[in-house]
Amino acid sequence: MTAHGFANLHVVEHPLVRHKLTRLRDRHTGTRDFKALVTELSMLMAYEATKDLPLDTVEVETPLERTGGAHLAGKKLALVPILRAGLGMVDGITQLVPHARVGHIGMYRDEHTLEPVDYYFKIPGAEENRLFLVLDPMLATGGSAVQAMRALKDAGATRIRFLCLIAAPEGVRRMLETHPDVPIHTAALDRGLDQRGFIRPGLGDAGDRLFGTQ
Ligand code: PRP
Repeated sequence: MTAHGFANLHVVEHPLVRHKLTRLRDRHTGTRDFKALVTELSMLMAYEATKDLPLDTVEVETPLERTGGAHLAGKKLALVPILRAGLGMVDGITQLVPHARVGHIGMYRDEHTLEPVDYYFKIPGAEENRLFLVLDPMLATGGSAVQAMRALKDAGATRIRFLCLIAAPEGVRRMLETHPDVPIHTAALDRGLDQRGFIRPGLGDAGDRLFGTQ
């Protein structure tokens, strides 16, 4: 068990992540920088979240001789952003893993009930234990994440990891109770939710800040 007490949670505490996350939280960071920071953070998060991917052994010919090397094993990774805000995390990760497939889950949180509402679902095939990285900058009540996991599992996914930038303990707990097999990778575990269901201290509404729709 880690310091925060959640067996499913990995908090990435790299200095670059902490620096960029602080800039992301800053209310004075405008849309252009916000987008760039989400891209950079997502790349760093994915680097950490994929550090134990299985490899096949291969041979490679350098200009001087043959030597042993490694190749990612299995089906191509699938990135699955939860619309809208998750879209902001795709670019950075595809720079690292250019052949990744990309699925989409359309879901928004009803402002009054805080319950997720589905509107789109299209993902790459789940054959041969393909790994799915589900992307959403914010894990608040966990309603959206829990529902997204259920939909992915119904579609056959067996290996799923959830990547976010800020998580609330409420959401992490709910994921642990309902999907304990899904590791969560976050850049920060915040204090908790306020009466409106916003993560505090948080960064505001990630979707609005990314797309400039206040
Ligand atoms: C936000 C966020 C998550 C969800 C988190 O999306 O991006 O998807 O809320 O809340 P939860 O953990 O309580 O479900 P939002 O509803 O603002 O939609 P958007 O991404 O389209 O802006």
